[in-house]
Amino acid sequence: MIVCVCNCISDKEIARQAHAGMGFDDIQLELGVATCCGRCEDFARDLVAQCSASRPVAALRDAGGASAGLMEAV
Ligand code: FES
Repeated sequence: MIVCVCNCISDKEIARQAHAGMGFDDIQLELGVATCCGRCEDFARDLVAQCSASRPVAALRDAGGASAGLMEAV
């Protein structure tokens, strides 16, 4: 589904970036979503928030990597 009509950006493109760990501002810069009329911004932000909340495995992996780094440093 096209989310941003002005820039022809789909929900799948936004979701892919969000699942990769990018926030709305980074996605906006990368894809150009919500940079014209702005009508898509609320939906795009909600989509990014939903995708960010639904990646617990990546969050655990990130947390494990960070703590593993601390263990090595000690
Ligand atoms: S619909 Fe996204 S900027 Fe206009």
